[in-house]
Amino acid sequence: MGSIPFYAKRFVSGSNCEEAFTVVEKLNEKKISVTLDVLGENIKDKPQALKFVEEYDILLKRIAEKKIDCYVSVKLTMLGLDIDHEFCYENLSRILKIADENNIRVAMDMEGTDYTERTIAMYERAAKEFKSPEIVLQAYLLRTEADINRILAANGKIRLCKGAYKEAPEKALQKMPLIVENYKKLIEKLLLNGRRVCIASHDDEVIEYCISFIEKNKIPNDRYEFQMLYGMREKTWHRLREKGHNMTIYVPYGEDWQAYYSRRLTERKENVFFVLKNLFKS
Ligand code: FDA
Repeated sequence: MGSIPFYAKRFVSGSNCEEAFTVVEKLNEKKISVTLDVLGENIKDKPQALKFVEEYDILLKRIAEKKIDCYVSVKLTMLGLDIDHEFCYENLSRILKIADENNIRVAMDMEGTDYTERTIAMYERAAKEFKSPEIVLQAYLLRTEADINRILAANGKIRLCKGAYKEAPEKALQKMPLIVENYKKLIEKLLLNGRRVCIASHDDEVIEYCISFIEKNKIPNDRYEFQMLYGMREKTWHRLREKGHNMTIYVPYGEDWQAYYSRRLTERKENVFFVLKNLFKS
């Protein structure tokens, strides 16, 4: 696999989309869906951002050709959010147009709090023009409950995660039990709201809580899906799928793997432990 070092291969599926498709096809055989992410973020020059737009263009067309069960995730700082707001929106629109034409969903990943407001504003604008966009919200942020109301008003589709960036206490809950409590509160609201919600977590406490809430409230399984990251908790993907829950795996690929990889290692000390343990096993 191109330039992905052995220790990153647990989390990164390949250096190009054809390598990533091998993973997608294996998961699809097990009736597990995929969201593919092109790695790269905080792009500072326009030609580089346009190269990534080109990559998504090819990716979306190849997904449609191959008729695989797969959608895409994208970071706005890859499309030039640090360079110029309108330039970034044009790039996003180009991707959403191709996605709409091919009936493929596009999730807008959420980055650090410097970008939260701009990402939500861009989502609100895009949701008026395109049917494909979805957005990620982070349960650790104090603002997220209000953001959920905004996104739902924009007829939005939400992936709820805990949040992976280091944030100040004025902006984000710092203690894991509080983040989990907030996650539970927010996911209830999303599950009851009637739109399809993506439950993005590897945490058994969160997963089991969601399952009992879903069962208690008889939420049909086309209204939610569980999501996990490639390389983490593989047995749990299959266990949930076998129980009849929809399961999507976030599968990243590309040469710019370092930032994503180090977030996976540094976001929670438990993960470093799991990575080390898994490295020695493999
Ligand atoms: P967390 O790391 O908090 O662990 C909690 C518990 O889960 C552990 O104590 C352990 O019991 C169990 N566990 C965790 N990993 C395990 C493992 N490998 N094996 C066994 N048990 C394990 N973030 C962001 O800021 N913006 C974004 O756009 C996204 N997008 C995104 C998409 C998807 C599909 C996912 C799954 C996650 C994201 N994230 C994200 C990352 C997210 O915010 C968060 O940092 C990680 O998912 C880690 O939080 P968890 O709830 O998964 O478990």
